[in-house]
Amino acid sequence: MAEQRQEAFTADLVIRNIGELVTMRGVDHPVVAPVEKDLGIIRHGEVAVKDRKILYVGPRDSDAFAVGPKTMIIDAEGKVVTPGLVDSHTHAVFAGTREDEFMMRLQGRPYEEIQEGGGGIVRTVRATRMASEEKLQDVLRRNIFKFSRYGSTTAEIKSGYGLNTEEEIKLLRVIKEVALETDILIVPTLLGAHVVPPEFASRRRKYVDLVVKDMIPMVHENHLAVFVDVFVDAGAFTPEEGREILRAAQDLEMPRKLHADQLGEGQGAELAAEMGCVSADHCEYTTEHGMKAMAKAGVIATLLPGSTLSMGQKRFANARAFIDHGVPVALATDYNPGTCMCPNLMLIMALGSLHMQMTPEEVLTAATINGAAAVGRSGQTGSLGVGRDADLLVLDIDDYRELPYRFGENFVRYVVAGGGVIKAPKVFKKKYFREEE
Ligand code: NIG
Ligand code: FE
Repeated sequence: MAEQRQEAFTADLVIRNIGELVTMRGVDHPVVAPVEKDLGIIRHGEVAVKDRKILYVGPRDSDAFAVGPKTMIIDAEGKVVTPGLVDSHTHAVFAGTREDEFMMRLQGRPYEEIQEGGGGIVRTVRATRMASEEKLQDVLRRNIFKFSRYGSTTAEIKSGYGLNTEEEIKLLRVIKEVALETDILIVPTLLGAHVVPPEFASRRRKYVDLVVKDMIPMVHENHLAVFVDVFVDAGAFTPEEGREILRAAQDLEMPRKLHADQLGEGQGAELAAEMGCVSADHCEYTTEHGMKAMAKAGVIATLLPGSTLSMGQKRFANARAFIDHGVPVALATDYNPGTCMCPNLMLIMALGSLHMQMTPEEVLTAATINGAAAVGRSGQTGSLGVGRDADLLVLDIDDYRELPYRFGENFVRYVVAGGGVIKAPKVFKKKYFREEE
């Protein structure tokens, strides 16, 4: 009996000698306007992990858990430990790249014009349709590993480069397959309504019907996606079309997201509020009216300054106004071959401070608990508490405020995802350090 009790308290992994342990207080709801006390900082803390979950988090306490011969110990050397980051908006499964379009943008050609000329999303759709599932799995594996190297332990991944039922399902199958083999937590989203594919250009009504009557029900029936997303903007879908598509998801009780107000004022925020979306994403052009509607409906604003930067846009989302209106803000990469080829969520956090005047407390909250809420995983990840997923980072910094301050440097020392340790500097090679493996 005593032995069994001992076994239950013997940790698989212990992180000790933590100078600043940032727990985010283990909250399971999004937070607006966080200040330092909301970060739940413990000085000289310790974390113990067992069976992929957090067994103990708190100040050093020799009675809280046991250490056995197989326990792996990480010495944090007095540095900072935070929850693993949550990248709540990516388009990480695609074939081909579009660096030539990036060059055109540098010469002043806008994204919309490149898209009208046959480039943009539909170009990636052509390449992705041609690619095998094996090849796409390989691309996705690499992209997920890149996310993790910069501290993301959760990633939302959208389809959206298939644009017919068969091809969208192919992408969601690829996501599911790779999700099963990684310790990174993956949340799949159907973005069948990314743009109208060229073969439906003169019959867009038929494409909306296809998404509503065929694609969404099929994806739902086969449990291939958690969220449904729609791109509502010039060159994509109208608010009326978006409403219809979101309603189809709502009827099946699938949670919803929206690409909103990225290229212009498009009533996206209002639509996200009306349709009970979990998040409205991008939001560069969201009006005060839209922000108020989002605050009232409890919609999270997922801001993506990496794509604003890479698109050469001058107008970043107004994070301060969102926060002032009571809207919780999440930050994500938007990783995709068109508008943001950056897998580094830490850099995105720095952009949150540098271009959107977000405080270190706000960017950390945006990339952890608010990101977790934006993918429906509050209570599981994004904060450190007993019983939660063992997703955390050991960082080579002494103070959490260095996070947005030291931009561009990878100071991730250890990434623990789902209890497994991924050592950051090992490029494209996942390694486990549990002794039994
Ligand atoms: O979030 N805005 C729509 N979709 C992507 C871009 C996709 C692409 O250009 O391939 C975005 O920015
Ligand atoms: Fe996006």
